[in-house]
Amino acid sequence: MTEESRIMSDSEYNITKQLTKELEFLWNVDGYIKDAEEEGNQECAKLFREIKEDEERHAKKLKDLLLKK
Ligand SMILES: [Fe+2]
Repeated sequence: MTEESRIMSDSEYNITKQLTKELEFLWNVDGYIKDAEEEGNQECAKLFREIKEDEERHAKKLKDLLLKK
């Protein structure tokens, strides 16, 4: 495959792959928070809420970078 015929560059692929990981986590994290709350583990629920905020920020940055190309 020539460079011109490639669907995406290695960097575009890497961004896409990482964005997918972030989105999969975000799809599941509310369930993780619910599980922690049902177990009375507020420390765990709080940590997953913090990670959720971080991952939302990362996902937005990855999406913006991908769409900028
Ligand atoms: Fe992340």
